Amino acid sequence: MKQKILGDFQTPLALAEQVVHILKQRGTHWTRVLEPTCGLGNFIHAVIQQCPDIQEIIGIEIQEVYVQQAVSIPSSAAQPHILHQSIFDIDILRDIAWVSSGHLLIIGNPPWVTNAMQGALEADNLPVKTNLKQLKGIDAITGKANFDIAEFIWIKLLHDLRDTPATIAFLCKTSVARNVLNYAHQCRLPISKADMYMIDAKKWFNAAVDACLFVVDINQAVADYFANMFDNLTDEQPRTKMGFIQNQLIANINDFETFRFMHGQSDFEWRQGVKHDAAKVMELQRVGDTWQNHYGEIVDIENEYIYPLIKSSYVKPHYAAQFEQGVIITQNHPGQDTAHLKTTAPRLWQYLTKHQTIFSARKSSIYRNHAAFSMFGIGDYTFASYKVMVSGFYKTPYFLPVMPIKQRPVVCDDTCYLLPFDDPLLVVLLAAALNHPDTLRFLKSIVFEDSKRPITKTILNQLNLQMILQHIPLNDLNQIAATFVLPNIVIPASKEEILRLFFPHLRQLTLF
Ligand SMILES: C[S@@+](CC[C@H](N)C(=O)[O-])C[C@H]1O[C@@H](n2cnc3c(N)ncnc32)[C@H](O)[C@@H]1O
Repeated sequence: MKQKILGDFQTPLALAEQVVHILKQRGTHWTRVLEPTCGLGNFIHAVIQQCPDIQEIIGIEIQEVYVQQAVSIPSSAAQPHILHQSIFDIDILRDIAWVSSGHLLIIGNPPWVTNAMQGALEADNLPVKTNLKQLKGIDAITGKANFDIAEFIWIKLLHDLRDTPATIAFLCKTSVARNVLNYAHQCRLPISKADMYMIDAKKWFNAAVDACLFVVDINQAVADYFANMFDNLTDEQPRTKMGFIQNQLIANINDFETFRFMHGQSDFEWRQGVKHDAAKVMELQRVGDTWQNHYGEIVDIENEYIYPLIKSSYVKPHYAAQFEQGVIITQNHPGQDTAHLKTTAPRLWQYLTKHQTIFSARKSSIYRNHAAFSMFGIGDYTFASYKVMVSGFYKTPYFLPVMPIKQRPVVCDDTCYLLPFDDPLLVVLLAAALNHPDTLRFLKSIVFEDSKRPITKTILNQLNLQMILQHIPLNDLNQIAATFVLPNIVIPASKEEILRLFFPHLRQLTLF
């Protein structure tokens, strides 16, 4: 329990040594070192081993047992001085009696725990609220429902440093590193030369998260908010750069620049699938001639309210849609009154009423003051016959062309996004263009693969479909379309014809 509250995962000495080695190779020379959450002190150990001319080493640790151990690390260089305190109670320039004043290295592995987890464990290893207020822009972080304690420590240190030249090198989640970069950019904190080295968190900490060594120079050069991205601690050359283009953090600047013409405003609006937060009742499974809900009850309702359902796990190559999964749709658009169902669909009304408690228990405030059995993510697009669908969850997205099943339009749940059309040819063409390796490379350049939901409506709406369709060769469109499990659809023989199908208003087309 205590280990969880304090985010206590001690860094193996071998990893700490590798980190110090990288920092030395990076070229900065430091004369004093701070380990702000030092635990057993393995980073301090590694610094002592590899930097014999270091003048001063300070550690801070909240748990006394670790303080005892860190204090006794033998040193032929400067003797480490360990403070038994919380980093949240210390201003690192004002409250530490530094004897030297040179370049400062702040190194370590701050706790891997979120404020929400702290709340759940009824712990309070958090900064005092009044201190937070003094940090410019901190609301952007603490206003979020869930933020990492490590993220807060990063930002506290960046502010504490004021004008002091320093390097901060922390092991942290990649999401924390990104948030720090975002924060520094937003608040114009003077960081320069940021490097992110991916680490194998499973191997070192048995943790299933994307984590990295994030190294940032501060108060040393003209501010620059790019981060070199290294796949491994051992890589000498970065694979790419992450950074800001028009205030948007871009995952892979190199690929983004190559396919920049694909970036823009989508010509068609991507929509999210249906949201009801009542899957146990609203989602049905075909069993023989009957429909069953998640409780295994046979559901005998008016058929016209059941639509074929696609969920994220079906959105993959070679998926052959069937009407085996269904979802009940109670409205044609959000906010529509549902009272008429009592007479227009009495069996459906009776079924939903029987499960009223499931609907009353829906937590999201969007359902408050709305008609009984309300849904979201519905509109004319829900009932369009032809759709391109994509899941929000996959690192490598796949765009599925979807046709009606048994004359019923197929709908997707809210883990997916869709573009609706009234012509199957458009769906096939667009799915082919979107699944092209060039489009996927561009898409991946603006997506952070380790996010819970890498693909979102905001991301999809940045795809300039016209430029994408212009760019992908006709041959490639044909080849990709041939992989779809669909009745054969003949693709027009010219790019111009294809573009006119999508954009009939275009008179003059510039073709590649
Ligand atoms: C992920 S562990 C890393 C320990 C050490 N830095 C290392 O890399 O081996 C995080 C450490 O932070 C300490 N810690 C947690 N909250 C703290 C706080 N408010 N102030 C100082 N140390 C804290 C924990 O006790 C734990 O030793």
